[in-house]
Amino acid sequence: MTDAPRTAKLTFDDKELDLPMYSPTAGPDVIDITKLYAQGGVFTYDPGFTSTASCDSTITYIDGGKGELLYRGYPIDQLAEKSNYIEVCYTLLYGELPTEDKLIDFERKITTHTMVHDQMQFLFRGFRRDAHPMAIMCGVVGALSAFYHDSTDISDPEQREHASIRMIAKIPTIAAMAYKYSAGQPFVYPDNKLDYASNFLRMCFAVPAEEYVVDPILAKAMDRIFTLHADHEQNASTSTVRLAGSSGANPFACIAAGIACLWGPAHGGANQACLEMLREIGTVDRIPEYVARAKDKSDPFRLMGFGHRVYKNFDPRAKVMKESADEVLDLLGIENNETLKIAKELERIALEDEYFVSKKLYPNVDFYSGIILDAMGFPTSMFTPIFALSRTVGWITQWQEMLNDPSQKIGRPRQLYKGATQRDYVDLDKR
Ligand code: CMC
Repeated sequence: MTDAPRTAKLTFDDKELDLPMYSPTAGPDVIDITKLYAQGGVFTYDPGFTSTASCDSTITYIDGGKGELLYRGYPIDQLAEKSNYIEVCYTLLYGELPTEDKLIDFERKITTHTMVHDQMQFLFRGFRRDAHPMAIMCGVVGALSAFYHDSTDISDPEQREHASIRMIAKIPTIAAMAYKYSAGQPFVYPDNKLDYASNFLRMCFAVPAEEYVVDPILAKAMDRIFTLHADHEQNASTSTVRLAGSSGANPFACIAAGIACLWGPAHGGANQACLEMLREIGTVDRIPEYVARAKDKSDPFRLMGFGHRVYKNFDPRAKVMKESADEVLDLLGIENNETLKIAKELERIALEDEYFVSKKLYPNVDFYSGIILDAMGFPTSMFTPIFALSRTVGWITQWQEMLNDPSQKIGRPRQLYKGATQRDYVDLDKR
């Protein structure tokens, strides 16, 4: 970010304030209101942060109008086509594409941290078998801080680095264990000969009684899903991680907070909700009924997998995901998949409908991802844990960036108070 000697003038009552303005490397200019209360005695009001930049960042950039997503400047479609998740993790964490040596070293560090403390399996056993894997993940990831004390001192850069590697390495193991536990199957330990995505698939789908060979095509599709979800600038869960981290909380606690936020159906929970919606629609002829419900203001129903706070054009991740859905179903020999047919027809109808066109509501990343994950054999309850797994690198990178920012302060929003002013307590017998 370059400081421009420009200011924005704010006039109210008898006051006139000059507020500094900054020009980012991309995106709209920003007015700095940090001194507004001190100088003007007023707050700003922006529920949902629709116009508020909560930090400065060099990690990810979204141009919602163009439908563009860049990780460290690299377009998501190039990364999805030419890179792989481990290289993307390195690039997000360290800011540049790695050299070959650095990539090998990074991959080695990740693969040598894939196991979790063996005692953790007893922690899993404390959960009900029918617990949602996201509920298990919130608990187990938070509990990492009770197992890895040697990487919880956030003032030590080496411990921060160690915690980051541990988080990226162990999250697939934890997600797979959550799945195995809910399926009533034994845990499968990681196999460090395998790449990141293959290892995850094996930990989810292998059983001790049979040999399991990872299909490289599925591994590639899995890797691409991880890549597409790796970061997304200051979304709700990332902001949650930053806010939790701003108090000095340890990294494992912060990521657990991010997982909890991601779970909601307006955020990462939308991939599960979307596939369930497509199944509920059931046949193409019922689509108009659901489109009408989505447009009806008296009905709380929304088309899951549609709309985005930032994208007012096609979500570039949805484009790649749609191609991937075709590829994966084709390669698995799944012909005439009814859900994919409904998704495509729903997309076509919605994109021609005045309501969706005027509100710029396009399919988002979650619209097609569930179809791919379902074809791979994952139950819907695993869709959001897979999103959480993929996003962990983004959360940890944003957490690191925040701690390295000298202007970092504890996050503490203000409010527009509308409650009662001071009044006297009334004794119980007088109420
Ligand atoms: N179906 C029908 N109407 C919608 C939808 C939808 N999916 N999304 C937004 N709208 C309408 C909304 O009713 C509102 O209409 P009006 O202006 O008449 O009141 C207008 O569009 C703007 O919506 P908003 O809720 O003010 O926008 P937002 O930026 O606060 O919400 C969103 C963004 C993603 C929460 C919302 O579009 C939504 O609920 N979508 C469905 C859930 C979903 O797919 N979420 C995944 C997001 S991408 C992955 C991720 O970030 O985790």
